[in-house]
Amino acid sequence: MRKHQPIWQEQASTWHVFRHDDVLRVLSDYEHFSSQRGEANDPNRPISSSLISMDPPRHRQLRTLVSQAFTPRAIANLTARIEEISNSLLDDFQGQTHLDIVESLTYPLPVIVIAELLGVPSDERDRFKMWSDAVIAGSRQLASGEVLSFEDAQMEMVQYFSQLVAERKKTPKADLISDLLRVKVDGESLSMAEILGFCVLLLVAGNETTTNLLSNALYTLHEIPSLWPYLAEQPDERLAAFVEEVLRFRAPIQHMYRTTTCDVELSGVPVPAGSRMVAWIGSANRDEAVYEQPETFQVNRKSRHLAFGHGIHFCLGAPLARLEAELALKQLLRRYTSIAIPDVDASEPVPTSLVYGFHKMEVQ
Ligand code: HEM
Repeated sequence: MRKHQPIWQEQASTWHVFRHDDVLRVLSDYEHFSSQRGEANDPNRPISSSLISMDPPRHRQLRTLVSQAFTPRAIANLTARIEEISNSLLDDFQGQTHLDIVESLTYPLPVIVIAELLGVPSDERDRFKMWSDAVIAGSRQLASGEVLSFEDAQMEMVQYFSQLVAERKKTPKADLISDLLRVKVDGESLSMAEILGFCVLLLVAGNETTTNLLSNALYTLHEIPSLWPYLAEQPDERLAAFVEEVLRFRAPIQHMYRTTTCDVELSGVPVPAGSRMVAWIGSANRDEAVYEQPETFQVNRKSRHLAFGHGIHFCLGAPLARLEAELALKQLLRRYTSIAIPDVDASEPVPTSLVYGFHKMEVQ
């Protein structure tokens, strides 16, 4: 597609964008490509009231506000706790020869971290997973056979977080929700819809993505066995570059959406106002115009990638995702001498084109 139809019109109003430079423009040129979705400030539609669905000037104000509660220093302070959580998860399966690594490590780690950040009990994690799955895939089949829709999942999250926010209003604690209630810019605080939107966004954006980054990293270690001893030899020096290349090569979020605000020209192609743009990050990250041998995993590649987006919406959780991935991998490298996926076909990819990763991955 990058070569023959780099900007492809799928239907009258949907356009897919595949080349790196076009994807970068669509993601960052907010004047022509808007992130706005639905009615903002509607507490029943928290994702529409969250950062990721907003344009400036409100995006700038909101990002400044939440950045006060979600600082790189606050994230760096989590190092010891993340080590503790991943150690205890790894202890739980010490001695087992076969296990589903998604269920045992790559899913619980990010969800426990986010739950603790937000100040919610981590034993709620099965519910969180159900909600994230339904939001990402559009719906989720429950054990009872019933289907949880995207809308119902949002409603359940709204009810859950509304109660929690009300509790923190009465009795603040040392957690992100209490911080979100406290922060102010130009005397203005976050609205209830915005706080709910941020909580829901963190739960959805921060979980599934980091789970898949870790699962994709482990899949890569299975595929290229020489990487394990290479990384184990000098993890502090080598892991960061490895994680970046996993992000480029197997981007956990494959595409993001925008809507054109007016008639636009993108690399010479006229696109009418009101068009839905699908910016393919996964394709941009393998664009041969930018990366040498893009289809080869090169652990020391210096190039940047678009896995965390670009511009004003650049992922707020990138430092946290990188930290979690590096710490968990470091502990795995310390405890084991290799990883293998005995039956690759038994692994279950996430069933949506938005997310690249695994729901299930048996390793030994
Ligand atoms: C935004 C990817 C982890 C919170 C984004 C965007 C991408 C992305 C591509 C840009 C969206 C756009 O341009 O419309 C990822 C990946 C992750 C990850 C690949 C893991 C490997 C996290 C974590 C958190 C988080 C751990 C929080 C705990 C956010 C937020 C935004 C965002 C709040 C919206 C920023 C804004 O609109 O200003 N992420 N993310 N992400 N991410 Fe992440």
